Amino acid sequence: MARTTRRRRTGGLGRTDRGPARALPPHPCPAVRRRGDLPLARVLRRAGARSPAHPRRPDRRPGPGGRRRAASGSHRPPREPVGTPPSDRHGRAPGPRVRARGAGRYRRRSARRRQRRPCLSRGDAVTGPRRSGPFGEGDWVRLTDPKGRRHNIQLVPGREFSTKKGQIRHDDILGQPEGIVVETALGHPYQAFRPLLFEYVVSMPRGAAIIYPKDAAQIVAMADIFPGARVVEAGAGSGSLTTYLLRAVGDDGRVGSYELREDFAETARRNVEQVMGEEPANWSLTVGDVRETMSETEVDRLILDMVDPWSCVDLAVDRLVPGGIVCAYVATTTQLSRFVETLRADGGFTEPHAWETLVRDWHLEGLAVRPDHKMNGHTAFLVTARRMAPGHRSIGKSRRPAPGAYGPDYLGPRPADLDD
Ligand SMILES: C[S@@+](CC[C@H](N)C(=O)[O-])C[C@H]1O[C@@H](n2cnc3c(N)ncnc32)[C@H](O)[C@@H]1O
Repeated sequence: MARTTRRRRTGGLGRTDRGPARALPPHPCPAVRRRGDLPLARVLRRAGARSPAHPRRPDRRPGPGGRRRAASGSHRPPREPVGTPPSDRHGRAPGPRVRARGAGRYRRRSARRRQRRPCLSRGDAVTGPRRSGPFGEGDWVRLTDPKGRRHNIQLVPGREFSTKKGQIRHDDILGQPEGIVVETALGHPYQAFRPLLFEYVVSMPRGAAIIYPKDAAQIVAMADIFPGARVVEAGAGSGSLTTYLLRAVGDDGRVGSYELREDFAETARRNVEQVMGEEPANWSLTVGDVRETMSETEVDRLILDMVDPWSCVDLAVDRLVPGGIVCAYVATTTQLSRFVETLRADGGFTEPHAWETLVRDWHLEGLAVRPDHKMNGHTAFLVTARRMAPGHRSIGKSRRPAPGAYGPDYLGPRPADLDD
């Protein structure tokens, strides 16, 4: 059930605006000094910047999402000890074998992840409230070079952003429309746009794995999240789905999020604040088990992204309005089967609909038109079912189950209307 998450090398709001370059004093290490012709970052990397022989330079500014941010209590989750593998998508730590083997790999991976983390100040909405019009002070801008490398900067009058290809003046972007091409002082072009929500969520800080945009889009469409809807989700995890739900329900709707773990809830809160600019008034986040703490009644949609969604079927029966939708996002076929059969056994829901989505990007260049070689093979399965009116049972499927489907080997819940 453990699921590792992959991120694109260049994806997300990984880079930050470091301001104008500074003249650095000679490095204490001769190996580094010898390679003075290389860019500083590469020199430090080659020399092993973490080794005691190559200490952090005293005037070195913290990187994206670095210590400066943590110290100020801003947007950054508690850092895992070096070598601790990330927990799986349900917040459980991997077994000891993984931990023992993977220490180095995880250290490298978390170092890369730190580099890619967004570096935003609290209250500066990534994707709003100003989502169009000329760039203004404080707006986030996503700069993309001809090789597809992306940098994200927050506009400050008078400031400059350093790239390997020269400086970009923030003043050249301020007041301009989205979609302009700005040039560095050395004449290298960058396109400038506001970052989109899906670009942010895939790289935002996370505890448990997030629901990816391709599945969030499916949930919004297939669970029919409408403006004004009253939606409950469990668990909130890192808040990725929460941001999509909040957008879909609009100001007239409500989203209630439940999360077992306090640390994940805090990450979700910060991510949502970051995306929305503030904690939305129509959002509540409760730390606790949704089965014990859920206060909402008359709910239109119940979205379950948790390890055992079948344990919430009674809750769905109790709290969903007739015609309401329960939707589960599950990573494995065994979870999928158990959830579907529990819904059928209850009888208070329409026949569940289960599916998965595969998204394959395409390479298009003249006559070279083909699918990309790489894709995310699997994220999860989705299931939806609608709540029947009280006193009415689902009519289920008209056809008989496949022979042996519920034979002696089958030990799970049995559909309410199954002939013996
Ligand atoms: C995979 S994460 C959710 C990710 C989230 N949907 C997102 O997009 O960022 C699953 C979360 O469910 C939480 N969880 C599991 N059982 C729960 C329960 N009974 N009540 C509330 N939260 C629960 C876990 O702590 C975990 O953080």
